[in-house]
Amino acid sequence: MRTRLFLFLSLVTSLHAQDGGQLFTLYCSACHGADGKGATGGTFPPLSQSPWVGGDADRAVKIALKGLTGPVDVLGKTYNLEMPPQGAVLADGQVAAILTFVRSSWGNQAGPVTADFVKTIRTSVNARNTPWTSGEILKLHPLPLEKTALTNLISQVYAGKWSSIPDFSTLKAQNVEEEQDGIITVTDSPLKDDFAMLWQADFSAPADGEYQFFLDADDSGRVIIDGKTVVEVLGAGPMDGSRSKQGKIALNHGPHKFRVEFLELSDKQGITVGWKAPGTKTWKWLSDTTAKPGKNHEPIPIEPVNGRPVIYRNFIAGTTSRAIGVGFPGGLNLAYSADDLAPELIWTGAFIDGALKWLERGTDNSPPAGENVVKLSKSRTLPNEARFKGYKLDSGGNPTFYVQIGGEFLFDSWHAEADKLIRTLTLSGNSSPLEILVSDQLAKNTNDQEYSLGDKIFLRAEHLYPEMRDGKTFLKIPAGQSATLTYRWK
Ligand code: HEC
Repeated sequence: MRTRLFLFLSLVTSLHAQDGGQLFTLYCSACHGADGKGATGGTFPPLSQSPWVGGDADRAVKIALKGLTGPVDVLGKTYNLEMPPQGAVLADGQVAAILTFVRSSWGNQAGPVTADFVKTIRTSVNARNTPWTSGEILKLHPLPLEKTALTNLISQVYAGKWSSIPDFSTLKAQNVEEEQDGIITVTDSPLKDDFAMLWQADFSAPADGEYQFFLDADDSGRVIIDGKTVVEVLGAGPMDGSRSKQGKIALNHGPHKFRVEFLELSDKQGITVGWKAPGTKTWKWLSDTTAKPGKNHEPIPIEPVNGRPVIYRNFIAGTTSRAIGVGFPGGLNLAYSADDLAPELIWTGAFIDGALKWLERGTDNSPPAGENVVKLSKSRTLPNEARFKGYKLDSGGNPTFYVQIGGEFLFDSWHAEADKLIRTLTLSGNSSPLEILVSDQLAKNTNDQEYSLGDKIFLRAEHLYPEMRDGKTFLKIPAGQSATLTYRWK
């Protein structure tokens, strides 16, 4: 009797001490495994290295409290099971202790979770009595952006006519850009034909061993690591897998000098670069296009992943050659023209089929893959001195496009909410106002703030009113002020 009481007391004490490891064993390990790799040989999803566990803790707390059901992608594998809610049996302090343990075990490196934080989340989701779906969670809390293995990526564009990849050391670049996303893409070039490009970066090798590299190009390309050519594709296109090559190199764990050379002769252009770490089976991509090595003519749908917008920097039919496509979760899409400094196309449904660009004869441009395409405008109206200064993504992956006009900046931020695209325009500085072309069509007032724009969308304006003249719609933004425009499909 005494011993049992003692055992019971020691269990109670350890629960009081909120030992996250012990609580994990009691409440989670049956399904997620003592090693966090998923019980019964991976039938259940892993918590070890899972992006669902890292980053902001809201996601993991909500799942622990209310459970999760339906398809969910974890580390490249899809599970379609149900996790029962644990919120009724676990106190705030216990959930906090378990997640603090999970977020700092098996290679996970995320910060601690407090009981107060769990309490706040519990209150906010109190009314919910069904498990989450992964879609619901991702809309609220997108997964942290997966970085490529490239850091300090610089792209350089060279204009000229060459018959083979030139010696870049003798040339002067006409365009240099820092690519913060670590992604190789030929849209960094303002030119369409007769140009060459050079990318230089640090490639971080995750382990010692033999690495494989994949390359396909339209037209010629070469991957060079620490001064050694690892793989090259020479001559003229296409980039449909028929000319793709693979190469191997032994690398030590740590950073290596990584260089990609590219030559565009004529017609279409593109480059696909991928790699495989030692002992792994899946290709990881360093470019905005991916391929199924060895297989030709597979469609390459480009779509949002992990609840984050996807960015596509390539030629998009219906806008200018330097276009930046954004596919938002929920099937709303945008093409921003870096030449005209304005959003030119918006549409619903599928975003872009990346394969069309190389496989369909006669098309140089991928058209929007979805429906209800609205052409907002097709010309440049900002002053001559206005320059495109790139875009940045916020923590949810939503873009802000930057335009510099003399000493002022125009910030053009976009995100999607349910069936609407929401755009916030902000003008910095304190000098003159800036007039923006909102549409080549005349918006018709339907009520106080909402306008009908063409036959497909409604436009809502907050803070400032659009001005209609010459059959077009404009918005005048005073310096230091913001305006919000909402585009809603009819
Ligand atoms: C009865 C089995 C079971 C238990 C117990 C359980 N889970 Fe899960 N958990 C699952 C399943 C199944 C999924 C995937 C659900 C789906 O397919 O939608 C999941 C998904 C998750 C996910 C998101 C996906 C991932 O792998 O990262 C997290 C985070 C998670 N569980 C945390 C926990 C924590 C923390 C506990 C303990 C408090 C726990 N789970 C207890 C079965 C369980």
